[in-house]
Amino acid sequence: MPVTSAAWHLVRRPNGEVVDDDVALVEHELDDPGPGEVLVRNTWLSVDPYMRGRMNDAKSYVAPFALDEPMDGGAVGVVEQVGPDVEGLAVGDTVLHGLGWRERAVLPGRRTQRVDVELAPPQAYLGALGMPGLTAYAGLLDVAAMQEGDVVFVSAAAGAVGSLVCQIARLKGASQVIGSAGGPAKTQWLLDELGVTHALDYKAAPIRQQLREVAPEGIDVYFDNVGGDHLEAAIGALRLHGRAALCGAVSAYNATEPPPGPRNLVRLVQNRLTLRGFLVGDHADARPRFLTDMAGWLAEGKITWRETVTEGIGSAPEAFRSLLSGGNTGKMLVRLEPDS
Ligand SMILES: NC(=O)c1ccc[n+]([C@@H]2O[C@H](COP(=O)([O-])OP(=O)(O)OC[C@H]3O[C@@H](n4cnc5c(N)ncnc54)[C@H](OP(=O)(O)O)[C@@H]3O)[C@@H](O)[C@H]2O)c1
Repeated sequence: MPVTSAAWHLVRRPNGEVVDDDVALVEHELDDPGPGEVLVRNTWLSVDPYMRGRMNDAKSYVAPFALDEPMDGGAVGVVEQVGPDVEGLAVGDTVLHGLGWRERAVLPGRRTQRVDVELAPPQAYLGALGMPGLTAYAGLLDVAAMQEGDVVFVSAAAGAVGSLVCQIARLKGASQVIGSAGGPAKTQWLLDELGVTHALDYKAAPIRQQLREVAPEGIDVYFDNVGGDHLEAAIGALRLHGRAALCGAVSAYNATEPPPGPRNLVRLVQNRLTLRGFLVGDHADARPRFLTDMAGWLAEGKITWRETVTEGIGSAPEAFRSLLSGGNTGKMLVRLEPDS
């Protein structure tokens, strides 16, 4: 029997911050799943900074969202119906998939991944055990090649990726972990629960000055989530053969003009630095190591995370706006069912 589903459409390309008139919530009638397909009722939607880039009509590593079509993104849900010829999935299974920004989705069963809800709650597969977790792990250990004893600096350290980078750095033997975040509540969390050595509130004083104070001898690794002033400060602090993993540049995602570049690139030459951009999608090879390490840390109570949750499909655009202006601590999520 056909079911209805509300989905967020992009109806206009945003100029700067996303405003209400850029998006519309549209009711769809979904057909029964066909051969190989399943119907999934989403319970959690992921809210991620990269979605802002997809709202622009710009060439990138992933296609822009089409206008007047449902947007997509990470989601977790429960299988409600299974079409013919689907193997390995049953009604009631919890699955991870890529058709978020909507209440329900019909999609090929092979485009879903069943998740182990005994190991962790379903939404953890959108965070610590999912894409942000792998991003943190591969970016720090493979891209920046962090070694035991390194001094590591992490920006957006109270966010989904950054909060995991801080902890993985500590667990893998960094001698110091320096995290920056916006505001005293976030920096207190970094100190109290994530075990960083120094937490810098970048809104309280220039990040360059604060970094110099806590790391007068410099840093070995920088995990860049922010770009802008943080990247310039880190380039100034990286010592001989220092490495930076360039993960994102969230400070510029709502920018309407190209942001200024770092003014100190000559330091790359002087200190033989390596700055390397990466995409998590290129690091599937790290997934088995990541899952083994994470499962161990979870079992031993060595890793923690937070979630910032908004309620209901209607809250998704506000959750997204809030994410880009620092309204989240840890992973930003939309919960579609109160008891999930
Ligand atoms: N390369 C990849 O494959 C990949 C994969 C996943 C994510 N990423 C990138 O990783 C970064 C973090 O993603 P996430 O999902 O973990 O998001 P997140 O850190 O949970 O949320 C974004 C955070 O950015 C911070 N922020 C916003 N404007 C800022 C500014 N002007 N200066 C400093 N901080 C600012 C806010 O925290 P404050 O309150 O601290 O400002 C906000 O909480 C993003 O750049 C994202 O694009 C890349």
